[in-house]
Amino acid sequence: MQQKVIVLDFGGQYNQLIARRVREANVYSEIFAYTASIERIKEYNPSGIILTGGPKSVYEENAPKIDKKLFELGIPILGICYGNHIMAKALGGIVESAELSEYGHRKVALNTDCLLFKGLDSENICWMSHTDQLGRVPERFKIAAHTETCPIAAMYNEDKKLYSVQFHPEVMHTQNGQKMLENFLYEVCGCSKSWTMENVAYQKIEEIKQQVGDKKVLLGLSGGVDSSVAAVLLSKAIGKNLTCIFVDHGLLRKDEGDEVEAMFAEGFDLNFVRVNAQDRFLSRLVGIIDPEEKRKIIGEEFIRVFEEEARKVGHVDFLAQGTIYPDVVESGEGHADVIKSHHNVGGLPDVVDFDDIIEPLRELFKDEVRAVGLEIGLDESLVWRQPFPGPGLAIRIIGDITKEKLDTLREADYIFRNEISEAGLDRDIWQYFAALTNIRTVGVMGDARTYDYVLALRAVTSVDAMTADWSRIPYDVLAKISNTIINEVAGINRVVYDITSKPPGTIEWE
Ligand code: XMP
Repeated sequence: MQQKVIVLDFGGQYNQLIARRVREANVYSEIFAYTASIERIKEYNPSGIILTGGPKSVYEENAPKIDKKLFELGIPILGICYGNHIMAKALGGIVESAELSEYGHRKVALNTDCLLFKGLDSENICWMSHTDQLGRVPERFKIAAHTETCPIAAMYNEDKKLYSVQFHPEVMHTQNGQKMLENFLYEVCGCSKSWTMENVAYQKIEEIKQQVGDKKVLLGLSGGVDSSVAAVLLSKAIGKNLTCIFVDHGLLRKDEGDEVEAMFAEGFDLNFVRVNAQDRFLSRLVGIIDPEEKRKIIGEEFIRVFEEEARKVGHVDFLAQGTIYPDVVESGEGHADVIKSHHNVGGLPDVVDFDDIIEPLRELFKDEVRAVGLEIGLDESLVWRQPFPGPGLAIRIIGDITKEKLDTLREADYIFRNEISEAGLDRDIWQYFAALTNIRTVGVMGDARTYDYVLALRAVTSVDAMTADWSRIPYDVLAKISNTIINEVAGINRVVYDITSKPPGTIEWE
């Protein structure tokens, strides 16, 4: 049976990071809200529990609480930051408010007799971010680390397998942080390295076989990483009982539609349906300049086209979706203002005649989806494909959309992407693309006056698209991109580089 660790979430900013770090140590982990009942936790039967940090002080009135019984289950527990405070408080220790908040890198002295720090030097660097800290450990606990200003930076009770740290082992600024987590997982919890992508791919395929049997599955394939990996897993499990519908709305990048078709129609055992709906989308977009209206029209038309195709397929047993784990975690919390509507083309469940939903990637983080993709034979170029918005180039052409503008943008974007790859920057930059502005400026080419469009280049570094910074592309690379585009793409006579971070900007221009 799969060993599992629960990351009990107290609202800290690193909750997903902790879960990912555990999985990087090849142990499966899932995030539970701190409100999860003791019964549910017992039933899940975890090999260990990690209590995350959180924004509150344990003494605040509406601070997250925890049932003391959690510490009596005999399950190994590691508390981090707020998790450290809440463990200490529940077991009779004292949590104090430090006079000054401590933030950043700190030298920490570790007691290497504590299993958490086994094999490490006693001098280490850790990452602190807190105001509260422990004033006294609970009975039968020992101090396991201290810094100059934090006399109890870690504590433990070996018999009860309870450990806690004031600092953040999950962030890369903590030296040997991963090793500390691994010590907790392997030495304290007794976990083995069972969560490997090879196992996961094999396991998923088996699970799909079990769940679907010889029934029929329909999948909307966009050519993005998630739906592509889902398609291949399903194909390996059920072959031709999978039908993939790929709607080409004509708003894709250069050659993209043909590439997706070539890969899936020929490369894998499945039914591949490409719907060439370019004209339909374009005619509905004539004269539309408002970004939200563009999105709405594309979303609606997408659903309509999909519906027509799905009707031809008829009743299916399962509709497959490429939901990944961060979607599951984030939808559980329901925050975030809507800045731009429909980030994913939703609504498919309403128009497909199906009995059930199947989500083969539901438990996987994005980097795991990629690793599984490589494991099951998807091309590196596809697995590392950058995010591409559902409404495609429509939201990268400011103002009205025409076939000519689309073709112009496609050529310029293609040159930009090629130059970035040639400069070896494609893995460093999170997302990069060209946007066609609606501005025309005067230029001179040869001896003639030109009056053509301004093209904007956008390239950002990011982790999750929630925040982003503009990428510092070297000047000589930018110079080459600009020259090539202006020389080779008719209709563009000026190139500008977008140096806006997010916030206050967004990544896309519309
Ligand atoms: P923004 O522009 O909001 O983009 O900073 C954040 C990330 O989301 C992508 N994006 C979209 N993806 N449908 C999508 O599927 C959309 O309507 C959409 N708008 C933005 C964007 O490319 C970036 O990766």
